[in-house]
Amino acid sequence: MTTAARHDPDRRGFGSDNQSGVHPRALAAIGRANLGHVGGYGADPYTDELQAVLAGHFGANVTGLPVFSGTGSNVVALAAFSGRWQSVICAESAHIMTDEGGAPEQSGGVKLIPVPVRDGKLTPDGVDEAIGRLRTIHQSAPAVVSISQATELGTVYTPSEVAELTELAHAHGLAVHVDGARLANAAVALGEPMGALTTDLGVDVVSLGGTKNGLMFGEVVVVADPELVPLVARARKGLAQLGSKQRFAAAQLVELYGTELWSELAGQANRCAAELADLIGDFEDVSVAYPVQANAVFLYAPDVVAAALARDFACQTFVVPDRTVRLMCTWDTNADDLLAVRDCIAKALTER
Ligand SMILES: Cc1ncc(COP(=O)(O)O)c(C=O)c1O
Repeated sequence: MTTAARHDPDRRGFGSDNQSGVHPRALAAIGRANLGHVGGYGADPYTDELQAVLAGHFGANVTGLPVFSGTGSNVVALAAFSGRWQSVICAESAHIMTDEGGAPEQSGGVKLIPVPVRDGKLTPDGVDEAIGRLRTIHQSAPAVVSISQATELGTVYTPSEVAELTELAHAHGLAVHVDGARLANAAVALGEPMGALTTDLGVDVVSLGGTKNGLMFGEVVVVADPELVPLVARARKGLAQLGSKQRFAAAQLVELYGTELWSELAGQANRCAAELADLIGDFEDVSVAYPVQANAVFLYAPDVVAAALARDFACQTFVVPDRTVRLMCTWDTNADDLLAVRDCIAKALTER
């Protein structure tokens, strides 16, 4: 049996932005990097070039450490910025809290402190209240405030919201981590450079994504303070996220972030989500749950609709903070896909 015969190449999904394939330019970058022999573990020209690319986005002093996965990226960042007895304040809906199999606790050795959200976002009041609760020897001492940009509910923090949270965290001696699995989507949505949402505002460490935006694999931990790089490098090795053939992750990241590809692909995904919300928001008993600001649409919908979307498009139902169905657009979502979702919902509602 050939590889092509093992799955239906015409099947489309809205379950996650990692259900899409690899952008041809990322594949080509892997092909180009595949010639000859170069040093392992980051001693290669692609990792060097990545540093210059990241400096262009996040500032001259940053260092980027490529890793294999988004979970790995988060765990490395959080573990490096926290002692074993310390904790990370995060949204109750944060991916680190709900969807990483306990990896931050199990592998990173940090305790997570979930805080209620407003449209997926931490608020200064919520963070302040959590810090206030964690003051004595009887509580785990907070070390980091982690925010997701874009959030897991498809919303984005404005620069002033990030600035306010960062100021608050720093005033209490806490570092700020951005889970940027979808930072590209947030930057495009806001029309801001990625650095203007993170390092320019004092964010200490960013888990910058690539896989959800067209790469085969490859995320990168971007560290603002050069003095902390050896610590993060130790955490990356200790947490099994240092790839020996790192050139392949780095080459893809250079292709994505060293050109306009990152914003083109994120823009396509974002536009599709906005159009999808317009197309399906008016069905009876179906409503859009959160502001559609990046590439996700969450729906309050009857069970028959959830079941039809799960069957036809591999959509998942989420329960935190509300019971909703998630439709995730990605870099290769197209207009026909959106119409197919609309028709699927219409049919499910007619047949109920
Ligand atoms: C916001 C966010 N962070 C991190 C991750 C983790 O990525 P991975 O599945 O590659 O570990 C995801 C994956 O869905 C995510 O949505």
